[in-house]
Amino acid sequence: MTATLHTNILGIDFENPFLLASAPPTALIESIDKAFEMGWGGAVLKTITPDNLEMNEASLRYAILQNKKRIIGFQNIELLSHQTVQYWCDGIKQLKQKHPTKVIIASIMAPVEKNAWQGLVKTLNNTPADGFELNFSCPHGMPEKGIGMAIGTDAEISSKITTWVKEVAQKPVFVKLSPNVTNIVHITRAVEGAHADGLAAINTVQGFMGLDLHTLQPLLNVNGKTAYGGCSGAMVKPIGLRCVAQIRQASTLPILGMGGISTWEDAAQYIAVGSDAVQVCTEVMLSGYKIIGPMLKGLQTYLEEKGFADIHALKNKAIEQICSHENLPKTLLAYPQVNHDLCGRCGKCVTICSESEHQALRLDDGYIIVNKERCVGCGLCRFVCPAGAITTQL
Ligand SMILES: Cc1cc2nc3c(=O)[nH]c(=O)nc-3n(C[C@H](O)[C@H](O)[C@H](O)COP(=O)(O)O)c2cc1C
Repeated sequence: MTATLHTNILGIDFENPFLLASAPPTALIESIDKAFEMGWGGAVLKTITPDNLEMNEASLRYAILQNKKRIIGFQNIELLSHQTVQYWCDGIKQLKQKHPTKVIIASIMAPVEKNAWQGLVKTLNNTPADGFELNFSCPHGMPEKGIGMAIGTDAEISSKITTWVKEVAQKPVFVKLSPNVTNIVHITRAVEGAHADGLAAINTVQGFMGLDLHTLQPLLNVNGKTAYGGCSGAMVKPIGLRCVAQIRQASTLPILGMGGISTWEDAAQYIAVGSDAVQVCTEVMLSGYKIIGPMLKGLQTYLEEKGFADIHALKNKAIEQICSHENLPKTLLAYPQVNHDLCGRCGKCVTICSESEHQALRLDDGYIIVNKERCVGCGLCRFVCPAGAITTQL
């Protein structure tokens, strides 16, 4: 069976569901041009603001988290686009002339003033952009001005601005939500009530990467000072998946899902929890626009292997399995099964079981013995076995 990656969201045709997220990879027209040549289905422009909004950037702007020399996350304190509104109006026209099949979404942010938001929207209405993404979610710099995440953590202001935008927008409006809230569904409902057409999630997760214990300076060091920043990349994927799933459980609006997508497998998971398309930022910065090739091929092959005609067949597949803890089926225990031909007798499973309360495993005469009286079926032991000798079965 041949699967198609083509999809249609709110009347917008996407040749594939992979978009560049609003971020440094979409900060320049020539970069987006290059990304489109390489196969990206679309781009959300680096957030456009009114020309008179002051933005003073800091240096340095990034700290990283590594795992075995692989960067698995950024903390950044970068602000928004430094290009003028006119630059973007001209650029969108150029891009659309050259790449008429690619989707361009204009990300926007403005002070909490009706004229400021509506002015931006009216100007961008006159471009061939396919839609708007309202950035209610940048966690650094902008909240101090009462915007960015200061909007997206307040249901009333989120609703008010969405209403202003919808009054004048001539294209679909996606609202980009912040994960830095107690209940993302609360904000989802507020903007849905204000007639948002779609949602995007997540923006970065507010964090503090740490300090250098030798110098006692912050890892993100701006001349000896630091600020909380936005965390992104593989390390935030569980938060992004959780947010998208919670939004999907509460709403039927289209969702542009993102947060830590590095591979086609990550993208497929985002679709399975309810995304209609996905966006990528950090992995593009780390590995280049060229990652789109393997992502397209991987997702297409996967859909075909599963017998899915398109991404709609995969969408929401994980949702019905996610329930409250109260509703989990709790009658059976998944005891560990140890394959003694594979087991290296290292004792790691014994240590984790013993120091994590249950003391159900012991190494006896070269064999791992499971005490079923003590085992609670938590499944932790299989993750520390370097030989893959432990499985859990109900
Ligand atoms: C350096 C940097 C700058 C960003 N700038 C913006 C921005 O201008 N507007 C916006 O909506 N999101 C911005 N983001 C957030 C990304 O669009 C995205 O929501 C987030 O990074 C999660 O995706 P990822 O894990 O694929 O990076 C930025 C992210 C990074 C790392």
